[in-house]
Amino acid sequence: MSLPDQAAVQTQIASFETELTHARTARDAQAVRDRYLGRKNSVVASWMQLISSAALEDKKALGQRANELKQSIEARWAAYQASADQHARPSGAIDVTLPGRAPTLGRRHPLTLVRDRMEGIFTRMGFAIVEGPEIEDEWHCFDALNMPAEHPARDMQDTLYLATPVLGESRRADDKRTMLRTHTSSIQVRYMQAHQPPVRIVAPGRVYRRDDLDLTHTPMFTQMEGLAVGDGISLADLKGTLTAFAREMFSPSALVRFRPSFFPYTEPSAEVDISCWQCEGAGCAMCKRTGWIEIGGCGMVHPAVFEAVGYDAERYTGFAFGIGIERVAILRHQVQDIRLFFENDLRFLEQFPY
Ligand code: DAH
Repeated sequence: MSLPDQAAVQTQIASFETELTHARTARDAQAVRDRYLGRKNSVVASWMQLISSAALEDKKALGQRANELKQSIEARWAAYQASADQHARPSGAIDVTLPGRAPTLGRRHPLTLVRDRMEGIFTRMGFAIVEGPEIEDEWHCFDALNMPAEHPARDMQDTLYLATPVLGESRRADDKRTMLRTHTSSIQVRYMQAHQPPVRIVAPGRVYRRDDLDLTHTPMFTQMEGLAVGDGISLADLKGTLTAFAREMFSPSALVRFRPSFFPYTEPSAEVDISCWQCEGAGCAMCKRTGWIEIGGCGMVHPAVFEAVGYDAERYTGFAFGIGIERVAILRHQVQDIRLFFENDLRFLEQFPY
């Protein structure tokens, strides 16, 4: 190895400075310093070593250069540290050189996802989406739907009244006693009052009942109401609509079954069952071995309802249905406990693909 000459001193100083300016962190800078000034294997240390093995006539010049290099680098290092101290962050300040923290993206609630999907299916079949008030009066929630004053659903044990009803008082269209709606069927009434046939709507929304919390009940849950009114609408249209819905929502091979039932606002009335898409009707835990799963109620609109809203009951026919959105979500995603939808535990909510 040829002995370092005077030019080598300048070269080393220059490269020390370049490396120091490229140091991003204090630790990087310390590593640069150690490479030049460290006790072992550093540039200065190796120059010092050369002195001992150099020829006698070279020792003096070599010693001078090694010292010059050492002192220059030490001086520059001291200057660098002084300015680093000056620019050091006050404690607690933000280090803008740190990598950023990715914000967690919010996502839609599983009930919103299911409702959106249901809305999409019905919209594609030509239904419009409408809404109605959650605070209702008895007339829209009960009377107009052919539920007489003594109907058990009007009982204060079941309904959350905002103002106490006076027993035995007559019910009129301008009855202003308020309550939290117990079903979305009240939206049918409001929509028909404001629009003439043909009608094709679905109305999603929250409903309230005086239920205690358990695996399958919450005092607030959500429904989707459906209503179609026009000339010559038949039970076959109702079944076709719900079958098309079930096939898109659950499985292309889903079947729909109507079980005779009773609702004051429909005649005939039925409960809607869907063939279990887990076991294809064979019977499994989800369908309680019956092969069928209930998702709501439906029927042909009762003429008394048409009369209440001022439609010509002789001319028009229509169908209506009400589907529990939690029920659809529970079945689609096999959720064991309805309360999970309302507890807002992120560990639960994060499992649903948005
Ligand atoms: N309103 C009923 C409920 O809350 C559901 C329902 C049944 C809605 C039959 C309808 C219908 O429109 O025709 O359980």
